[in-house]
Amino acid sequence: MNEKKTPKRQLGVLDLAHRFLREHVSAGDTVIDATCGRGNDTKLLCELTGASGRVIGFDIQQEAIDSAAELLRENGYSAELHLDSHANMEQYAEPETVSCIVFNFGWLPRGSHEIFTHADSSIAALEAGLRLLKPEGWLVLCIYYGGVNGFSERDALVEYLSSLESRYYTVLQCSFPNRTGCPPFAVFVKKEIAE
Ligand SMILES: C[S@@+](CC[C@H](N)C(=O)[O-])C[C@H]1O[C@@H](n2cnc3c(N)ncnc32)[C@H](O)[C@@H]1O
Repeated sequence: MNEKKTPKRQLGVLDLAHRFLREHVSAGDTVIDATCGRGNDTKLLCELTGASGRVIGFDIQQEAIDSAAELLRENGYSAELHLDSHANMEQYAEPETVSCIVFNFGWLPRGSHEIFTHADSSIAALEAGLRLLKPEGWLVLCIYYGGVNGFSERDALVEYLSSLESRYYTVLQCSFPNRTGCPPFAVFVKKEIAE
């Protein structure tokens, strides 16, 4: 009986991101969810930062903001949720005060596939995010591509991240090379301490 059983659930990009957040976010931290969507990452950030922390979230869809707020309410958490583009995040926090910023690119789960993240605003937001990060802070990115959103945002993100000066930023990419289709991948960017 050598029949291979199908695994119930495989490790995915969100597992990697959440494990990483659990390791790098502490009580009292200021953190940002750049793409709130249904609020799953925002909820984890609230759990990790606790009552003394500050969680700031962004989405351009009212449906996403309402859905994230509802999830937080159901779980006894609250966060500063803004119906605004993540490209404007510098209007909401001071430079070098944020420990971790999460980006989950793509479209709203169970929402319209017509609205998704785009390279121009995503890269503007990454640049802003790097200015907001504390030294030794992290960007945590989950990059989805190959659906209606195509490949152009992924290509622009990878090109931008590859161009970051290695003295100042460590960029770690975790992909799934033995999976077929367009498996989403994670990128973690650490802002190093400047001398
Ligand atoms: C993959 S979903 C995020 C999923 C979310 N983290 C969750 O737990 O459900 C991507 C979200 O990014 C949002 N989005 C697209 N462009 C944006 C922008 N410029 N600024 C902020 N959010 C944006 C979409 O509306 C969508 O809800």
